[in-house]
This record gives sequence, C-alpha cells and structure tokens, in this order.
Amino acid sequence: MMDTAAHVLVFPWPRQGHINPILHFATALVDAGLQVSFLHTERNLRRLAQAPLLGLRLLSIPDGLPEDQPCSFLDLMESMCTTGSAAYRALLLSLLSAVDAPVTCVVADGTMPFAFDIAEELGIPALAFAPHSVCSYLALLSMPKLLELGEAAFPADDPVRGVPGMEGFLRRRDLPRGLSFAEKGDGDPLVLKLAEVTARSCKARALIINTAASMEGPALAHIASCACEVFAVGPLHARSTIAESASLWREDDGCMAWLDGHEDRSVVYVSLGSLAVITHEQFTEFLSGLAATGYAFLWVLRPGMVQMTSSKLLGETVEAVGGGRGRVVEWAPQRDVLRHRAVGCFLTHAGWNSTLECAVEGVPMVCWPFFADQQTNSRFVDAVWKTGLDMKDVCDRGVVEKTVREVMISDEIKEAAQAMAQQLRLNIAEAGSSSFQFERLVRFIGELNI
Ligand code: UDX
Repeated sequence: MMDTAAHVLVFPWPRQGHINPILHFATALVDAGLQVSFLHTERNLRRLAQAPLLGLRLLSIPDGLPEDQPCSFLDLMESMCTTGSAAYRALLLSLLSAVDAPVTCVVADGTMPFAFDIAEELGIPALAFAPHSVCSYLALLSMPKLLELGEAAFPADDPVRGVPGMEGFLRRRDLPRGLSFAEKGDGDPLVLKLAEVTARSCKARALIINTAASMEGPALAHIASCACEVFAVGPLHARSTIAESASLWREDDGCMAWLDGHEDRSVVYVSLGSLAVITHEQFTEFLSGLAATGYAFLWVLRPGMVQMTSSKLLGETVEAVGGGRGRVVEWAPQRDVLRHRAVGCFLTHAGWNSTLECAVEGVPMVCWPFFADQQTNSRFVDAVWKTGLDMKDVCDRGVVEKTVREVMISDEIKEAAQAMAQQLRLNIAEAGSSSFQFERLVRFIGELNI
C-alpha cells in the first residue's frame, strides 16, 4: 500500500470494450492505495446501476446524444468532443478545488484527446490509456507513412512496408480498417480519426497499455522510441480482483449449467464482441458452418446484432439448423465461459479484450475480424502467436466449418495457446514484467507534480 495523496480521475471511452480494461486498471490503483474517481457517461452509469463501487468514487457527465438510439463511433466522438468535453472541464475545475482530496492526475482513454488537453491546460498531468494491442497501435501510428507509400487502401494480400518491425509481414488486409474497405488510397474516415487520436495519445506524459511484454515485446520497443513513458501492465483482467461484472447487458448465467453438461473441449464459444453487427446472410453462413462441424456451440447474439431480425427468430433458427446442439445467449459471462473445461475454441472477432481473455485461459481461437484493431490482432494470432487461425474477409459456410474443425483438433495450436497462457501468468505474477511495470507506474503517478 502506498502512503500518498494521489487522486486519479480515470476516464474511459464510453463503450464496453474500453470500460472493461480501464475498470480493472482503476481497481488495481485502489488496491495499491490510491484514491480513484471513475468517470462514466450518465447513460452508462444508469445501465450499470447494479454495479458495485469497488472502492471507486463514481462520477458522470452527459454524452450529449439522444437516449436509446444506436450511434456510430464518429457521432459519439463528435458529441463527446462538444457536450462531453464542456461537462468534463466543469467537473475537473470542481475536482481541482475540492478541499479534501483534489484530483492530481487524469488517466483517460487515448480515444479522447480533449481529455488530455483540458487536464493539462488546467495544470493536471494527464496520462493516456490504450485498451488495444500494441501491434495495432503501431499500425495506426504509421498511418501517415502508409498513406504516403500508397499502402493504406485495401486490396488483399500485398505486404506493406510502412509499419516499423512488421515490414513484409503485415498485409494491407491486416491493417486497421473502418466499417467498409477503403478502396482508394486516401483512407477510411474512421481509421483516419483513430490514427489522429492515436498520434495525440502517444504524446501524453505516459502511455499505459493493456498488453504484456511476452506477447508484444518487439512492438513495445518501437512504441517506447516515440512515447515519453510506456507502461505495459496487462493483461489487466487477469491481475484484477474484481469478480463482479461491469456489463452494459444482463449476463445470462444459465449457459454455465449448459456447459457443465458437455465433455471437455467439445464446445465452440462464438462471440463477436459488443459492437459488431452482422447481416442476415452472414448469420446464415456462420450458422450453417457451425452446424456442419457437428460440435455443440454457444453463441452470443446481442439484441439487434443481426440486422432486421428479432432475437426470438434467431433463437428458433439456431435451434432448427443447429440440430439442438446450439445455445444462444444475449450476453454471456465471457471470462467464466472461457475458463470452462468444456470450451474447445473461441470463434471471435479478435477484439483485444476477447483476445487477451482467451489467451489467459489458453483457449485456441478462430478469428473473423470486423474493424479497427481487430484485423491486426487476428494476423498476430495466426502468424505470430500461432494460437489460432485467421479467416479474415471470408465468411462462407465452408470456410467456417473447415477452420473451426481444424482449430478444434489441432494439437499444435492447443499447445501454443497453453504456452502463451503460462507465459502471461508469469508476466502478472509478483516479479513478472507487468507487475513490475504497474508498480513503476504507481510510483510515477505518486511523483507527478501538480
Ligand atoms: C472494441 C474493439 O473491438 C476492441 O478491439 C478494442 O480493443 C476495444 O473496443 P469490442 O468489439 O466490444 O471492443 O470487443 P472486445 O475488446 O473483445 O471487448 C468485449 C468485452 O465484452 C470483453 O471484455 C468480453 O469479455 C465482454 N463480453 C463480450 C462479455 O462479457 N459477454 C459477452 O457475451 C460478450
């Protein structure tokens, strides 16, 4: 425990895949003896109303968007930069003048440059939190170079030269992507925005990354040469003492009893994260491919995730086509599912949290990435860590069936996944690299002068 007056305001980007890792980080700071305030949007705080406090002081600001309407990343970004940032400034001013414990440091998600700019302008040191892999972070940082070389547009397999340390290995199809392929060389608007905020976050006083040296050592070395201070403290969920969930959806625990009824390593767990939306055609291809493998499968289908199809109809279709071997849930207790002995592989979009959660449990992966960092993560899963296969850009029933079968029976992939899990446990053990980096970070925060 640390005897310190440090009071950290932790500010996540208000999406599930960003809240989860930074919440683990915040509670680790509390465990280290720091005072921590956690800043949600009002909307998310309402959805999390049942969530325990975990020693955190919960605060909120409006996101400025209408209730109950889906919004794109760019809409949310615009609204957070206007309504959200004005409310954030007012909040920081009040926290600065608090007599009991004024805020001494901000740790904000790298997606929000305004969070660093406003804090620093008010004299509060601001550190950036990156919930993504370093390999994708490096690809985003390299976007100006990729554009200059004409390598940012998508046609498939051409290797790129513009990302340091990955020359010739990363292909255009492995680069961070928007919701549609950028056919021209001027980049996708979502990717350009991500590249812009990534470049800014790299200039913060420190960059805290949810990764481990054993997974991403070479990419970390490249980042270290362009950021002020880098702390690789992950996988944060595996260091965490939180048993409770910070889910924005209600978890369906019934699937755990269903898993209990299956043989070891006999079930395919399918989840495409908290954001991806698929067409009905893609749903049908996945379902037919999964059914053809003959394996039982547990599939997370959030309400609204399959375009223009009700949850009831999806459940009935899975039941009919899956021959009774398929189970659908709207939201699963994912970390518990991945830890269950019955799970043999994870068919995933390769979001970074899912990738880390899977890696820690030593479960092989089948990757079907959608956007942002997922393309790069899935390339690393397949070609660097060899803990799974990447079926990028192709979603027909034959490919789904073949890839899932291959991963379910491959001893090579299973051994690589288990070796990685062992390595990650060493990283987070008491003398491991991530624990060492976390302790160094706590000292760094304690020594910041305000
Ligand atoms: C997004 C990006 O895709 C991801 O790559 C980025 O790093 C963070 O933002 P998301 O698409 O939601 O996140 O995927 P992922 O990073 O995998 O995060 C999903 C989280 O939701 C995981 O922590 C997972 O455990 C949790 N989850 C998912 C559940 O608890 N239950 C579910 O049924 C599905």
